[in-house]
Amino acid sequence: MKRSITKSFTMVARISGLIAIGLGIVHLGAGSASVSAHTFFGVLLVGAVWALAVQIRSSAIGLAFAAGAWGFILPALGMAQLNISPGPAQWALRAVHVLVGITGIALAEIMAKRLLTTRAASQSVQASEDAPSLREESPTPE
Ligand code: HEM
Repeated sequence: MKRSITKSFTMVARISGLIAIGLGIVHLGAGSASVSAHTFFGVLLVGAVWALAVQIRSSAIGLAFAAGAWGFILPALGMAQLNISPGPAQWALRAVHVLVGITGIALAEIMAKRLLTTRAASQSVQASEDAPSLREESPTPE
């Protein structure tokens, strides 16, 4: 059950992140893509990353904390772009916003991989611990 929740949030992070970056590039190139649609998918990515951070908090608190902080930095950078005057500083801010956005997709992948491998390992330990007791319980054929 927990594995499928992790996989679902990872898929949401992947899809929303890719749509957000796609709409961002279209907005940058043609200026036609809606910034609010871009922001919607960006916020969806933040939600998925935070959900994965909540799941991983007991085994990797540093990673969970970094993902939590990332979710505040990304929208702050995006919104700051709307109030900056054109020039080199605007391009620098744009580049940082895009890099921080891509970092979110990477964070989701890292957390999902760690969550899934940790669970797979604990399940195989559980199975090997259960195996001897099952053997003891089963009658030995004479
Ligand atoms: C809560 C999340 C996000 C918010 C609030 C947000 C906000 C914004 C805003 C307001 C703009 C338009 C800036 C302008 O017109 O000058 C923008 C542009 C852009 N965003 Fe985001 N964004 C978010 C997430 C993301 C993510 C996750 C990515 C990439 C993975 C991304 C990539 C881009 C790109 C490529 C552009 C166009 C270039 C630029 O102006 O920087 N954004 N974003």
